[in-house]
Amino acid sequence: MSTASFPQGFVWGVSTSAFQIEGATSADGRGPSIWDTFSSDRAEACDHFHRFPEDVRLMKDLGMAAYRFSVSWPRVFPDGVTLNPAGLDFYDRLLDELLAAGITPYANLYHWDLPQALEDAGGWPSRDTARRFAGYATAVAERLGDRVGTWFTVNEPWVAAFLGYGSGIHAPGRKSAADAFTSAHHLLLAHGLGLQALRAAGAAKVGAVMNISPVMTPAQVSDFGRPLSEEDAEAVARIDTLANRQFLDPLLRGEYPADLLPVIERAVGLDHIHDGDLAAIGRPMDLLGINYYAPLVVQAQPSEPADPAFPGSEGILFCTVPTAVTAMGWPIVPNCLSLLLGRISRDYPGIDLMITENGADFVDVVTGDGIHDVDRINFIEEHLRALRAAIADGARVRGYLVWTLLDNLEWADGYQRKFGLVHVDFATQRRRMKDSALWYRDVIRRNGLADTRPRRPTLETVAARAQVSRATVSRVVNGEASVSPEVRSSVLRAVQELGYVPNAAARSLVTRRTNAIALVLSVPRNGGDPLTAAVVQYVTSMLEGAGKQITLMLADTAESHRRIVQHVEARLVDGVVLLPPDRADTLAERLSRTGVPVVLLGKPAVASLVPYVDVDNEGGAAAATEHLLSRGRTRLGMICGPMDLVTVQDRLAGHRAALRRAGAQPLLALAADLDRASGAAATRQLLGDNPSLDAVLAATDQLAIGALRAAREAGRRVPEDLAVVGFDDIDAASATTPALTTVRVPVADQALALARLLLSRLEGRHTTSVVLPTRLVVRESS
Ligand code: FCB
Repeated sequence: MSTASFPQGFVWGVSTSAFQIEGATSADGRGPSIWDTFSSDRAEACDHFHRFPEDVRLMKDLGMAAYRFSVSWPRVFPDGVTLNPAGLDFYDRLLDELLAAGITPYANLYHWDLPQALEDAGGWPSRDTARRFAGYATAVAERLGDRVGTWFTVNEPWVAAFLGYGSGIHAPGRKSAADAFTSAHHLLLAHGLGLQALRAAGAAKVGAVMNISPVMTPAQVSDFGRPLSEEDAEAVARIDTLANRQFLDPLLRGEYPADLLPVIERAVGLDHIHDGDLAAIGRPMDLLGINYYAPLVVQAQPSEPADPAFPGSEGILFCTVPTAVTAMGWPIVPNCLSLLLGRISRDYPGIDLMITENGADFVDVVTGDGIHDVDRINFIEEHLRALRAAIADGARVRGYLVWTLLDNLEWADGYQRKFGLVHVDFATQRRRMKDSALWYRDVIRRNGLADTRPRRPTLETVAARAQVSRATVSRVVNGEASVSPEVRSSVLRAVQELGYVPNAAARSLVTRRTNAIALVLSVPRNGGDPLTAAVVQYVTSMLEGAGKQITLMLADTAESHRRIVQHVEARLVDGVVLLPPDRADTLAERLSRTGVPVVLLGKPAVASLVPYVDVDNEGGAAAATEHLLSRGRTRLGMICGPMDLVTVQDRLAGHRAALRRAGAQPLLALAADLDRASGAAATRQLLGDNPSLDAVLAATDQLAIGALRAAREAGRRVPEDLAVVGFDDIDAASATTPALTTVRVPVADQALALARLLLSRLEGRHTTSVVLPTRLVVRESS
């Protein structure tokens, strides 16, 4: 077997989950789940319930051998107790379709969508929920068992327990360490009782799916073997116990880790752990599903309070590390996959493994000729190399499932996350394969990776073919006149035959130009800014299309500012794109003094001669405000983000100006950040201070989505009692319930203007700043 191919019979496929793709939330008697209650996004998702034949066809076309999906518990038991046979009809159809397509189904019973009725009866902190789960397992297996070979009981119980009941960022949104620990135990018990029920119903194979993250310090991210201080070693071990061993030990050894019991006892006592529970949980299973995305990076930090998602973690800091990250902000460390598989094989030998989820969220750019998601391909490829190495070292991994088939509804993050191999346009439900899907199809076809990547011809290859020097090739490429016509045509022939793409090296050999452009980013704010990310992607691909090499630089500290200025002063780049210069710092001025052309995304905080591209924030906010007034709203509030942001200042100015013209007084609430939680908090404050408030304009859509949630919690109907308007028109805005009225900011146009501005400046042309129009998009929320 070559180093790139996988064992014979290795299973390739994808994973999905019911709530994230199905939609049809009241079809055939389905009841509400905790996610229907918790989520503020439109529940249609990918409408897979109706479009499953198309989705199965996609998988078939890609050559998938396996499909892991989840069954929606509230379809089967809408009120938590009464069986609804019609709810299983959908899975009946799905299974038939899969089997006809030659795809092996892997059915997962619990992917976080607890029937709301069972949450009302106590949820996972109640032992009865585990008992109910066993009944649900029996009902599903009796109906579908003739076509399902492998079952998984629960998916990622850590997330369900600690994000659902501990930190409260997932449904049902409770925040109690005690509830989190009891939930974790009852989810494990549900697995144990479910396993028994499935076996009794004749299931061939049963497993559970765990999210496993190697835990390490920042220094270990680039050097796994790095020795640790005693304090750091303790911090790493404690988080490993909370995140990983809390689940692996009971499942695979029938016991809780000894160092965990005192932590649980302090939080809630141990009475919820009954005699016999661990024996049931630890019954042998056939397959352990592993979901891997990223390591957990921590270090000892005595003053740190416990993270609510990890009760018992006081004195430990969760660190961000300067590695490449996905759009989720998750560090990309592929070798952690080999590390964790080695560890599982050593500490829990004898169990078959399957990678049941691995994949990445990146901002995709949809172009006329496809979606070229190179980042996602690289991510999966590197993880497959790590997986292949672990298998060679003896890890018993039987298959690999990409998360996920379709762009979908990513829990609390809504539709903005893009994990799919297939792009979904949520306005039309049109599916389009991304490059990663086609690439994965080839991986499946050859049962592994290509041995080496196709080599790009270099300057040397062209020189050898044309029998000239490198400098001569470079001269021809750069269009210099000093080359004879015969030599020129033989070089051009070689270039054409070899498919050579001249790169910076070729160009810089005879010109002073580096052909490099620095793309300088201020640190992305907490909560993320999907539009800026999209502009960055577009502008990068446009400049690359124009033959430029992009050097990404992060401007997050005074030291990094100094380094960037030095880099530009040394003429290591021809030009700089700086974005978004939202803080009142002097970086733009310092860079422009180097004489190297600089352009900005967004109007700078400090008035400057450096040209920028911005959108008409004032005009947009004024239009939104006038719209609210024209609909008869009289008590208008605005949720502003942090006031040091120029964009926020401009949007507020537009809002104020429009109110002034109408003779109305502004009501304001400041949000600490630009994320949903800040929007919800600011709305609560506004409603508390001004009970007669009838409209809110939020400075961004994320804030507005938070406002929708807070309005619902406060019992205000949108738009009847309260109109909510956002700004930006991110993907998620059209997917909320009700859909959000907002101000559309042109993304592609901004990138285009930015690229044009820079290219003109590189050619020495005079340029001025560009302000692009915004447009009010009226939807149901106003
Ligand atoms: C996993 C979940 C899956 C999806 C991915 C991104 O934790 O199982 O539903 O949210 O993360």
